[in-house]
Amino acid sequence: MANHKISETNETILVLDFGGQYNQLIARRVREDNVYCEVIPYNVSIERIKSYNPKGIIITGGPASVYTDTAPKCSKEVFELGIPVLGICYGMQLLAYVLGGTVSKGGNSTKEYGHTVVDLENSSMLFKNVDNSTTCWMSHTDFVSQTPVGFVVSGQSKGCPIAAMSNDITKIYGVQFHPEVEHTIQGRNILHNFLYEVCKCSGDWTMSDYVDKMIASLKLKFGDSKVLLGLSGGVDSAVCAALVSRAAGNNLTCIFVDNGLLRKFEREQIEEVFQGRDGINLITVDARKRFLDKLAGVSDPETKRKIIGEQFIRLFEDEANKLGEVDFLVQGTIYPDVIESGFGDAAVIKSHHNVGGLPDVIKFKEIVEPLRSLFKDEVRKCGLELGLPESIVMRQPFPGPGLAIRIIGDITEDKLEILRDADHVFRDEISNSGIASSLNQYFAVLTGMKSVGVMGDERTYDYTIALRAVTTNDFMTADWARIPYDILARASTRIVNEVKGVNRIVYDITSKPPSTIEWE
Ligand code: XMP
Repeated sequence: MANHKISETNETILVLDFGGQYNQLIARRVREDNVYCEVIPYNVSIERIKSYNPKGIIITGGPASVYTDTAPKCSKEVFELGIPVLGICYGMQLLAYVLGGTVSKGGNSTKEYGHTVVDLENSSMLFKNVDNSTTCWMSHTDFVSQTPVGFVVSGQSKGCPIAAMSNDITKIYGVQFHPEVEHTIQGRNILHNFLYEVCKCSGDWTMSDYVDKMIASLKLKFGDSKVLLGLSGGVDSAVCAALVSRAAGNNLTCIFVDNGLLRKFEREQIEEVFQGRDGINLITVDARKRFLDKLAGVSDPETKRKIIGEQFIRLFEDEANKLGEVDFLVQGTIYPDVIESGFGDAAVIKSHHNVGGLPDVIKFKEIVEPLRSLFKDEVRKCGLELGLPESIVMRQPFPGPGLAIRIIGDITEDKLEILRDADHVFRDEISNSGIASSLNQYFAVLTGMKSVGVMGDERTYDYTIALRAVTTNDFMTADWARIPYDILARASTRIVNEVKGVNRIVYDITSKPPSTIEWE
């Protein structure tokens, strides 16, 4: 298993992953507080843990009950390394169990879910400067009914007599609640105390430091070699290009494919930002006709996706082959991809990933993934640090198949133009209203439906545009955004006035599940 640690010099907190739903969030919170953090599987060897020389270990929540045979467990040695440990939820129950305390099966009176008031003992280092009574997020059935020897009870709630326990001598702590989620009002202070009071971290994880180190190490790796990168227009590949260009200069070639399914002004924007930047060779392949020809008459969403994926790879291959053999192929894999692919080889990334099929067809010596240690918010910070404009760095996700999966039914140039214009107006209104940062994704969809309308004295029979806006943490589930009516009203009025061929606007008020974010 690869060691993902990018810098031998950064202080590191390890998160032992026991399968809880907030595990990545814990790591993000730690990094937001300027301490480097990695998520590793719960069952790694003690040698592997030691190899990181961690300043502290966080044991996460998870769905199991410690006393079942199949429950995931870690070795007692983890608690004997002399390294501070914080167990969260299942993590607290596990450390109580392993160290000789008692965990009991919960019943209705001890089960807690949601906002819960917890009384905390702030003589414990973990709760320094935290209110004595504070609202925390609970989600548990089992509970610790007896602490191991050497621990004191440092928190309790109505349903949970041991909601937190501390051992300031061995620096081992457990909390039944989730300090990493926003609903735990003082959760950030508690994690901060763990990092800075208990683990004595100094806070050496900063993006400017990361960027400097990464550029230096890439320079060393590349030397005078040729480097190739597929620019998709998305945030990750754009940040990769900016980072790699600093190390490779004019040895870097970026290939950007205009498939005709891009949003309004997207190609112009990419060209403006990257043409000539740090000496990059930017090749824009104008493949609009080729894609539209292949897609003509195709209505099935998965067939559309397949055609687009295949054409992209073929085009990229043709262009890359013109360059001869390249030494390095850069991929925009990011840390959640690494974690989600089971911590294995990141070449096995989500099939969604725009350039996922490239390694099979391009001749190159090595894949380089300069963002594989970063969370999405860190990738954005990295982009800003490198001087990319906010219009690129803060942009919302845009699917590889582009507008093709936002046009229901077959795709034509006319439909694309209608959708491009409607989408542009909607995004413009969201941006003018100042609510863009509260939404995770928002766009227009050209429904296949036409209906009757009236414009002036004329009867019309035109398309219906659907507007979609969602909030989400991970895009696996999403809620429809409660956009104020007056913003929707302005978008609606402008679209029907400015975009020919549209006479009706609807707003999508379904969450995911049961819907998906995209319509196809
Ligand atoms: P759904 O529609 O599945 O979307 O709820 C979840 C997220 O994934 C994006 N998405 C795609 N991205 N290729 C991509 O690169 C695709 O085929 C694709 N389909 C959906 C979608 O925009 C959302 O962010």
